Amino acid sequence: MQAHKSPVTVIGLGPMGAKMAETFLKAGHPVTVWNRTASKADPIVAQGATPAATPAEALGAAELVVISQTHYQAMYDSIGDAIGALKGRVLVNLSSDTPEALRAASRWASGHGAELLTGGIMVPPPGIGQPGAFTFYSGPEPVLERHGATLKALSDTTYMGADPGLAMLYYQASLFMFWSAMSSYMHALAMLGSAGVAPEAVLPYAAGLYSDLASDGPMGYLKIITKEVSAGRYPGGDNSLYMQAVGADHLVEASRDAGVDTAYPKAIRDLFWRAVEMGHGGDGVGSVLEAMKKPAA
Ligand SMILES: NC(=O)c1ccc[n+]([C@@H]2O[C@H](COP(=O)([O-])OP(=O)(O)OC[C@H]3O[C@@H](n4cnc5c(N)ncnc54)[C@H](OP(=O)(O)O)[C@@H]3O)[C@@H](O)[C@H]2O)c1
Repeated sequence: MQAHKSPVTVIGLGPMGAKMAETFLKAGHPVTVWNRTASKADPIVAQGATPAATPAEALGAAELVVISQTHYQAMYDSIGDAIGALKGRVLVNLSSDTPEALRAASRWASGHGAELLTGGIMVPPPGIGQPGAFTFYSGPEPVLERHGATLKALSDTTYMGADPGLAMLYYQASLFMFWSAMSSYMHALAMLGSAGVAPEAVLPYAAGLYSDLASDGPMGYLKIITKEVSAGRYPGGDNSLYMQAVGADHLVEASRDAGVDTAYPKAIRDLFWRAVEMGHGGDGVGSVLEAMKKPAA
């Protein structure tokens, strides 16, 4: 006979929250759901979840309250007058927002007798509950230890630290790496496409370049830059930043000539030149981080 699993409340039934509620149900947890647009609860209620008539009822149904909404403001809007029902609850908010918004929410929760665990979930809805899924968590570690077994139904739990903003910093930094890598590939496709090159012809070169970046070889720049940033020194060797800034000028001009938007290469070109102006022309490309740390006036 299956041991009784602890109850979970899920607030927010967009694509993510609905999939989370379904995953908890499949893992054997009694699930209570609430959503601003009540009709979105129907499919999950048909699978066995209990609909809460009000946010207060949702908060009263379980100690563990998992929230997945557009932003943290949605949590404040949802809880609204039910604020008195927060006492003793564990809120696990897996919505996107800024690290500062998460820190403020943590203080708000504490002020109302609740604990807040913040999270940045690193898979889209179909990945929830699947092997390889993971979530960056931050906030009070004992809370994660207490509810980790339940939360593992959604994904692996990767604890980043007590600062409640950390989960979102990792989440956004990861999204930025993902978006910028994808955007670079799309820009390359647009440039080469202007000369009639098919995307399939570009793919092998992109795949080789991106995997080389993570390698130990001479193009293994993830490790090279990590080492340089840790040491605070960026030896340029045969690849000076000045040479690469001039090359970035050529990239902007080539993009313009190809009829492709220049905003993205210009942003890179400008950062390169700002680092050169800061005295890093003879250093390596890793020194661009110094320009990033000192935003332009
Ligand atoms: N989808 C993904 O691939 C993915 C991946 C990782 C992380 N995330 C993050 O997960 C979160 C949820 O994403 P999602 O894809 O499910 O869709 P979403 O459009 O970001 O969120 C929809 C949910 O937020 C609710 N909501 C929005 N504003 C509200 C307000 N003022 N008051 C009350 N409820 C409000 C909606 O309620 P109504 O139904 O009433 O409109 C709905 O339940 C987001 O923060 C997103 O960034 C998403």
